[in-house]
Amino acid sequence: MTDLCVLPDFDSDQAGRILERLFDVTGSLQVLNGERDLNYRVDTENARYVFKIANQDETYGMLECQHQVLQRLAAADVLRQQASSIESVNGRVIEIVCSNDGIDHFCRLLNYVEGDLLSSINPQSPDLLTDLGKTLALLDDSLQDFNHPALDRLLLWNMSDALATLERFKPLLDSDHKRALIDYFEVHFRDTVLPMRRELRQGLIHNDANDNNILVTGDSPWQQRVASIIDFGDMVHSWIAVEPAVAAAYAMLAKDRPLDAAVAIIKGYHEQLPLSEAEMSVLFDFICMRLCMSVCICAWQKSIEPGNEYLSISEQPAWALLEKLKNIPPTFAHYLFREACGLAPVPQTAALEQWLEQHQAEFSPVVDIDLGKQPLLPLDTGVTGSSFGNPAENQDMQVLSKQIFRQIGDSGCAAGIGRYAEYRLIYDDDAFIGADGHNRSLHLGIDIFMAAGSAVYTPLAATVYSVANHDTAYDYGGTLILQHQFEHQGRDIEFYTLYGHLAPGSMAGIKTGDKLEAGHRLACMGTLEENGHWPPHLHFEVITDLLDATDTFVGVGSHAYRNVWMSLCPDPNLILGIPARSLATDEDDADQIIRARESGINPSLSLSYREPIVMARGSMQYLYDTSGHRYLDAVNNVPHVGHCHPKVVAAGIEQAGILNTNTRYLYDKLTRYSEKLLQKFPAELSVCYFTNSGSEANDLALRLARNFTARHDIVILDHAYHGNLSSLIDISPYKHDAKGGSGRPDYVHKASMPDTYRGEIKADASSPGESYSQSVKAALRAASARGGAAAFICETLLGCGGQIVLPPNYLNSAYEHARGAGALCIADEVQVGFGRVGSHFWGFETQQAVPDIVTLGKPIGNGHPLAAVITTREIADSFSNGMEYFNTFGGNPVSCAIGLAVLEVIETEQLQANALEVGNYLLDGLHRLQQRFEVIGDVRGLGLFIGVELVRDRITLMPAASQASYIAERMKQNGVLISTDGPLHNVLKIKPPLCFDEHNAAFLLDRLESVLGENFAQIDR
Ligand SMILES: Cc1ncc(COP(=O)(O)O)c(C=O)c1O
Repeated sequence: MTDLCVLPDFDSDQAGRILERLFDVTGSLQVLNGERDLNYRVDTENARYVFKIANQDETYGMLECQHQVLQRLAAADVLRQQASSIESVNGRVIEIVCSNDGIDHFCRLLNYVEGDLLSSINPQSPDLLTDLGKTLALLDDSLQDFNHPALDRLLLWNMSDALATLERFKPLLDSDHKRALIDYFEVHFRDTVLPMRRELRQGLIHNDANDNNILVTGDSPWQQRVASIIDFGDMVHSWIAVEPAVAAAYAMLAKDRPLDAAVAIIKGYHEQLPLSEAEMSVLFDFICMRLCMSVCICAWQKSIEPGNEYLSISEQPAWALLEKLKNIPPTFAHYLFREACGLAPVPQTAALEQWLEQHQAEFSPVVDIDLGKQPLLPLDTGVTGSSFGNPAENQDMQVLSKQIFRQIGDSGCAAGIGRYAEYRLIYDDDAFIGADGHNRSLHLGIDIFMAAGSAVYTPLAATVYSVANHDTAYDYGGTLILQHQFEHQGRDIEFYTLYGHLAPGSMAGIKTGDKLEAGHRLACMGTLEENGHWPPHLHFEVITDLLDATDTFVGVGSHAYRNVWMSLCPDPNLILGIPARSLATDEDDADQIIRARESGINPSLSLSYREPIVMARGSMQYLYDTSGHRYLDAVNNVPHVGHCHPKVVAAGIEQAGILNTNTRYLYDKLTRYSEKLLQKFPAELSVCYFTNSGSEANDLALRLARNFTARHDIVILDHAYHGNLSSLIDISPYKHDAKGGSGRPDYVHKASMPDTYRGEIKADASSPGESYSQSVKAALRAASARGGAAAFICETLLGCGGQIVLPPNYLNSAYEHARGAGALCIADEVQVGFGRVGSHFWGFETQQAVPDIVTLGKPIGNGHPLAAVITTREIADSFSNGMEYFNTFGGNPVSCAIGLAVLEVIETEQLQANALEVGNYLLDGLHRLQQRFEVIGDVRGLGLFIGVELVRDRITLMPAASQASYIAERMKQNGVLISTDGPLHNVLKIKPPLCFDEHNAAFLLDRLESVLGENFAQIDR
C-alpha cells in the first residue's frame, strides 16, 4: 500500500538502454507489478535482476537508507534470500535518469530474489505465517539501532499518526455505515492504545508486510517458508508491535477464520522477539486500525482517480474483514493473542481458580441436593455419548427429555450431570458457528438435570448483573448473571456466574443491581417449553470476563480456541464440588492412541492423513472426531447404508439379545436372509455360503473353482486386489508386485487392465471390450500350457486398479474366452455390489454378464464382519464331496439379521436409485471441474463409485500422484474424506455411503473446486 503517485514515464526499450549505459547489463525486460515505482525483471544470459526506476517524489535519502538497510540485513543474515544493490559503471548504487516528460528519477539495480509472492500462495499454512512472524521479528531485531535522517519524514501509513490519517480521509467515505464502522474501531483505538502508548516499545519497522512484499520458497504448504521481504519504502520509526499487526491485517484478508492467521504470525513474532503484555493488548487495535487506514486512504485515492476500478475492487476485502472483526470482542482477540504468546489467556483466571479452590467448602449449594454427597448420574452428552441422541436423527427434545429423566430415575440418582469442557454433537449446527468462523461445540458450564421447578440458589454473595429471557429455541430461556467480587493480593477481582434454562416466571422477584446473600433462592429450573426447548436442567457457568456481553454469554466455545474459552469460563465444579467419579470420562487423545498402537498393535497398519483423525462417532454419511468436528464421508463404502444406521444397529442388537449360534443348528434368520439375498441374483446363481470377510469369500471361491475344474491355475487382472489371505496375496498384483511383495507365483497368469484412459485401446475404439479381453485370452493360453486355469477372477469395476469402469462387453468377451478354456468366471463384487453402481444392483449386471461365482463383502453388513459367496447349484454340489465346509461365525443369526436389515434399508430408502441420481450429479459436476482444471485428466464411474484421475499433462498423461495426495489431505482439512488409489496413486477415489445426497455432493464439489484452485502443481512429495 502506498501513497498515490504516477508511474515514471519510460518504455521498456528506453529502460533497457539506460540499464546498458549505467549498469552495463543487457537482457530482456519484463514489467513487474508496482504501484509507485517502475520495476522491471531483467533476464540476462547468466543472471536475473530487478531494475527499479523510482517515482518522482522518492528522495535520494530514502533510497540510500534502503540500501543501507539491505546491507545491514545481509550482514546479519536475516533473510533466506537477500536483495542487494548493484553498483553502476560510475560506482554508484543510485543513479539519476530523465523521463520522457522531462522529470528526473532515481534508478537502482538489485539482484533478483527468487520466490513466489505470498499473495499467490493458497493456502497459506499456519507454519508459513508463523515463519513470516519470525522473519519480521528477526528483521526488526537487527534494525533496532539503525537510523538515517531520511526516515524522519511524514508518512501516511505511520500508525503513530493513524488518527490524523482517519480524520483527514474519513469524510471521503461514501456511506454513513462505513464511517460508523471506522468510528467504532477509532473509539476503541483511542480508549485502548493511547493510554498505553508509553508502555509500547518503539523501533524501526518495515511497516508494510503485505502479501505482495513477501517472497516464499517451497512447493507444498507443509514446506513453504519466507524467502525474503522486499520493498522497504514504508519503513518508519513506530511502535514495534505494529509490525506483526500489519502483517496480520493483510494475512487475515479474505480468510474464513481470520484470527487463525493473526495468531500464527503473532506466535512466530513473539518466539523471536518477545512482545510485552502491554504490546499484546494493543495488537488487535493495530490490526483493525491498519485496515481502517487502508480503506480511508483508498477513499482518498479514489477521490483523485474516480475511474480507477482497481481501487474499488482492492478495498473490498478490507471492508469485509472490518465487518467481521466488528463482531469479535476485542478482548477475546487479546486473550487469543496472549495464548499465542504462551501466556494464560485471561490474566485473572488463575487467581480466581485458586480462590475458588480455597473457599469451596464455604459456598452454599446451588440446588436443593448435596452435589458432593448424593449419587449423581454422569450423562452421556458428549460426542461418543447417547444422551443427546444420534445426530442424524431428528432431535425430538420431548423424547430426549423423557429418556434422560428415565435414565436418571432408573439409576436411583438425585440428578443427571452434563460435563464441563465436553464436546457435544448437539451443537453441530450453523447456529453455533461463531463470528471467528469456528464451530462451537465445547460445553463451558456444568448441566444439572433435575425436574422443572427445582430451585436454584446463589452459592456466593452477589450483585445481580442481568435478568433476561432468551426465549428463542435452543437459547437459554430464563437467564441470570450474577456478579461476585473477591480480594486477591490487595486487588478486587470480579467474576460472574451464569444460570441458564430457568423458568422466566420464577425470576420475577429479582432485578438488576439487587444485592444477594449467599444461599439466596434465585429461581426455578424451567420446563422444556419455557427454558429454550431443552430437557429441564440448570446450565451453571463461571465467567471471568463477560467480553462486553450485557445479559448473556455463550455456553459453548470452539475447539480451536479451547484454552481461551476455558480460561474465560473456568471449571464451575470449583464451586459445585461434584466428586470426580460423577464427571469422569475415559477418552484418549490421538497421541495416547498412537503410542498404544505402536506398543501393542500390528505395526503393518497404516494411518491416513498427516494428522490422523481420532474418530469418535459415525452417523449416516458423517463421521465425527473427538472434538465434535464433522467430516463428510465420501470414501467409506463399508457403512453402505450409512454409519450406524439405526435400523441396522437395532437389528443387530435385537438378534444379539435373542440368539447367536452357528450353522450346525436350525434358525430361520439364515434361510430368510439367503432367500432374500438370492432374489437379487439371476436364477442360475442359486446357492450361497456365508463367511466373515471378503478375503474368506474369495478364498472359498478359489476352492470352489479348483474343486470343480480339478485345476489349480488362476487368471487375474493386473493391479487387482482380492484380499489379505496367502491365497489372495498370490492373486493380487496390487500386493505381490508392490513393496514387501515376493512377485507373482507361476500358477497365476496376468492379463492387462481394460483401462480405456491409459491403455492402448481407447474407449471410443469400435469394440474396446472385446479388444481388451484378448489379454485374458492370452493369459488363459499361458495357463493351458500348465494344465489350464481353474478360474478367471476380476472385479466388475476395478477398485485398486483406479476406479475403472469396464468397457462395454468386456466381461462377456472375457467370460467367453475363460469358459472356452474350461475355466470358471468369478466376479469379485466385494467393493461395488449392493446397488452402488446405481443402474443395477450388481456390477456384473452393467455388463449383461452372468458369472459362475460371485463374492460379496464390505457393504453387505454395513460394517459388521459378514461376507458371502454365491454360485450355481452344480458347482456347489460338486464341492459337497464329503468334506464339511464349516465357518464358525459365517452365517450366524446376528450377521444374518444385520444382512437382512441392510437389504431392507437399501430397498425402503431406495438407495440404489439415490446412487444413480446423486452419482450422476457428482459426475456432471466433476466433468465441469475437468473443463476448468487441467490437472483432471479423466472422470469416470458409475453411480457412487467414482474416480478422478489426475495428470501433470493431458498429452503424456504423466501421473500427478503428489497432487492427488495433496488434494485428499486438503479435502480432509476442508471436512471431506476422500482418498487416492490406482497403480500410479493418482486417482481420487469417491465411494461414499449410499445415503450421500445431492446437498453432500454439492458440498464436495464446492470444496474440491476450492482445493483445485490452490497452488499445488509443483508439489513433489
Ligand atoms: C475387491 C476386493 N476384494 C476383496 C477384498 C478383501 O475383503 P476383506 O478386507 O473384507 O477381507 C477387498 C478389500 O479391500 C477388495 O477391495
